[in-house]
Formats: sequence, structure tokens, C-alpha cells
Amino acid sequence: MIEFSAPKPETAKEKSAPGPGAFGVIQSAALFCQNPTGMLLRDQAKYGDVVRYRAGSKVVHLISHPDHVEHVLLGNNRNYRKFSPHALLKQEMGEGLLLNDGDSWFKQRRLMQPAFHARHFETLSQSILQGTADMLKRWRVQFRDGEQIDIEAEMAKLVRLTIGQTLFSTDLHKEIEAVVNTNGGKFGLLLGNLPGTAQHRRFQRAVRQLDKVIYGVIRQRRQASQQEWPLDILSMMMSVQDKDTNEGMDDKQLRDELVTLLIAGYDTTSRTLTWAFYSLAGNPAAERRFHHELNRVLDDRAPAYPDLSGLSYTSLVVLETMRLLPPNSIIGRQAVADDKIGGYHISAGSIVALSQYLTHRHASCWDDSEVFEPERFSEDGSAGRHRFAYFPFGGGPRQCIGKGIAMMNIPLALAAIAQQYQLRLVPDHTVKFGIEVTLYPRGGLPMTLHSRQGK
Ligand code: HEM
Repeated sequence: MIEFSAPKPETAKEKSAPGPGAFGVIQSAALFCQNPTGMLLRDQAKYGDVVRYRAGSKVVHLISHPDHVEHVLLGNNRNYRKFSPHALLKQEMGEGLLLNDGDSWFKQRRLMQPAFHARHFETLSQSILQGTADMLKRWRVQFRDGEQIDIEAEMAKLVRLTIGQTLFSTDLHKEIEAVVNTNGGKFGLLLGNLPGTAQHRRFQRAVRQLDKVIYGVIRQRRQASQQEWPLDILSMMMSVQDKDTNEGMDDKQLRDELVTLLIAGYDTTSRTLTWAFYSLAGNPAAERRFHHELNRVLDDRAPAYPDLSGLSYTSLVVLETMRLLPPNSIIGRQAVADDKIGGYHISAGSIVALSQYLTHRHASCWDDSEVFEPERFSEDGSAGRHRFAYFPFGGGPRQCIGKGIAMMNIPLALAAIAQQYQLRLVPDHTVKFGIEVTLYPRGGLPMTLHSRQGK
């Protein structure tokens, strides 16, 4: 027997989330380009925890309540596939973890995970420590006391000089520089670089050059015996085999994962360091406590990996920096089937934008949310907090694979630099925020450099 059911009435449960009308969407998009953080705050204040934007057949929901973040990233994560602006770079990035999805992602993530085990961290810390020491030596020669530097550019250079070493013991800074220079100053995202233009061809040539170096290193490793391999992420990736098929990664997959790790680890690390100096300079009480810790734990010695556990306030400074100025201020997902978030209908195919920038200041979890206060992340300070009130590294199965490395490299580099220099804000300079996957200061971030030697 065929059964008919009555058409579902438009119940309160299926109502659409509030949001701007057609003209308002254009206004929000224009404001996002000009002042993205201002637009996020404005729309959340105006429409609430779920904001719906509709342009033609495209629908985007901006969500910020920790319960809703948990629902998308964990509770109902199978209903949400990755939606990333990095997809614009699919041709260049290939099938690395950031862009992969479904079973193929799961298989790769399982293969990659052992390379990021904490037992390798001490070895992996060598590149950032050496790179920071070299940079500080250069600063002593290059800059006078009180001289203005662009801390954003300096931190990007530091990461450029060290990330290739961490991943596969190779100095890649020239190749990365070529990619950045042919991509409008960006590494992570292709913008304003239209296919078919001379600029785009130059960019592709730079990527091919990067590939040549990467494939060269992979070839050399395959020719050498495993005992000769240096201890780095590539060696660890090459040593693993899938436990079902006994197969390791082929050259193309290794290359795609390395390029993905470069892209995922570059801006995020350098910008967290940049924002940490900016935040400390604006918050003298936190900076004093931080300097006190450096003096107490390190005295005049340069930091090393075993110091990390003693540099606990330094790590809190990094966590609080990423709360107020999260490198990834928005991440995206696409709904596979219809869903409900906060009582509002989420249609299949619509985009869900989760905003760390908003959740990290959500009134349900954070008091005086605009105040920079690293103590929030102490054991007592964090007690009872919603587990998705803070997600700078994402959450659920697709949480950042490099989290442990980032939470080692960033505090170590921050400690090494701040032990020798204090950075101060340039009076009358107003920082303008931009978002290109990561949150960055438009036009760089000028700060003055002051020696702390003898303090
Ligand atoms: C402060 C530093 C970092 C931050 C804030 C950060 C943030 C994030 C976030 C939010 C995601 C999840 C994106 C999503 O769910 O859509 C992610 C994923 C990822 N990150 Fe990081 N990241 C950092 C450093 C690194 C480093 C150093 C590496 C590599 C060495 C790395 C490699 C990756 C990869 C491969 C993924 C994709 C994981 C997957 O989907 O399985 N990240 N990161």
C-alpha cells in the first residue's frame, strides 16, 4: 500500500535564521573586504548566533555559539564537508590533508598522524631555535636600538627560513619567496592572480620550481638507506605504511602533503608570533609577568626544548593571543544534508562559516572578552569552560595536525626573541585587520625594537 503523508508545515523548527536582505548582503560583503572583523562583530550583534546570508542560490550561515560550533565540528561532523578558500589552489596543492575529504582524507590522516607524535618534538624544535638565533644575530647588526621594523615581515621571514628545515631538512626560503612574490605577497591563497595572466604563469613557474626541490629531496631519500635519513617530518612520513594495505605514500602524495603543510603552517605560525608581540606591547602588566618568567627560567641562557614546561606563562600568552586575534578567524563547511542549528534550518549545500573571532569573545563564555588576560588559560581560569569556546586549531576529527608543533615552536621563538628585545607600538599607527584565510595586519605591522640586554 502506498502511504501518503501530509506535506510538512513550515514549523517554527524549520524557520530560516535572520540575516540581511539582498542589499544588506552586498553591504556586508563590501564591509568584509574593508573591515572583516568589524563586519563579523556587527552582523552577530545585529542578527544573533546564526546569521543567514543569501545571494541568488548561494546561502551562507555565520555561526558563533560554542554549542553550534561543537555540533558542526564534532556532534554532526559527518554532515559537514570541508569548504575552504584553499580550494582555489587545488591545482597547486593537490590532494593534501587540507583539501582532501571522505575516505581518502581518513586514510591519509591515519598515515600522517605518527609523524606529528610528541616524541619527535625535541628534534623538530632545532630548526626554529636555530633560525631564531640566526635572526637575532642579524638584528644586532642590522638594526639600531629603537629602530622601527615591520614585525609581520620579520616573522614571515623567520618562518620561511625554518619551515623547510622542520619538514624536510631543506632550506626552501628562496623557493617560498618566489611563490610569495608571484602571488601578490601571499603564500597561502591565490587572490587577484587570474588564470591566463602573465602573473599567474610566473606563479605556476615558481610552484614548479618548489616541486622540483621537493621531488629532488624525495628521490634522494628513496636512494639512500633509511638509517641515513635525517629526523624530520618527511622521513617520518616515508617510514609509515597503511596497516590494511601495507603501502606507503607515493611521491605525488608526499609532495602534496609537504606543500599542504607548508601552506598550513606558514602564515598561521608567523602571524601568531606577530600578534603576540602586538598584544604584549599593548598590555604592560602581562608583558611584565612574561619578562619575569623569562628572567627566572632562562636567566641569560637561550631557550631550549626542555625549558618549554617551565615557560608556562609564555604558553598562556600565546593561547590568549590566539583567542583575541585567532590566525584562522573563520573556517568553512558545507552541509551535505538538511540540518538544524540553534533551531534554524540549514539547507543541504549551504555553507556554514564558523568564526573563531566571534566565538572567542562570545558573552556566554568570556567575561571582559576584549581584555588581554593570559591567566584565563591557567588550570583554574579554564575550569568549567565550554570545550568549543576556544578552537584556534579547529576541532573534531579535522583538528589541526600541526597543533603540537605550533604550541612548541611559537612559545620557544617568542621566548628567545623577547629575552633579547622588547617591541613597542609605534605611536599613532592604527592596525587595520585583513583576512586572507589568516588574520593579518594590512600593510604590515611597524614596531620599534629595544634591546633588553642587562635587564
Ligand atoms: C598557530 C598555528 C596554527 C594554527 C592557528 C592552525 C590552525 C588550523 C585550523 C583552524 C585547522 C582546521 C581547519 C578546518 O577545520 O577547516 C588546521 C588544520 C590543519 N593544519 Fe594547522 N594551524 C597552525 C599550525 C599548523 C602547522 C605548523 C602545521 C604543519 C606543520 C599545520 C598543518 C595543518 C594541516 C595539515 C591541517 C589539515 C588537517 C586535516 O584536515 O586533517 N598547522 N590548522
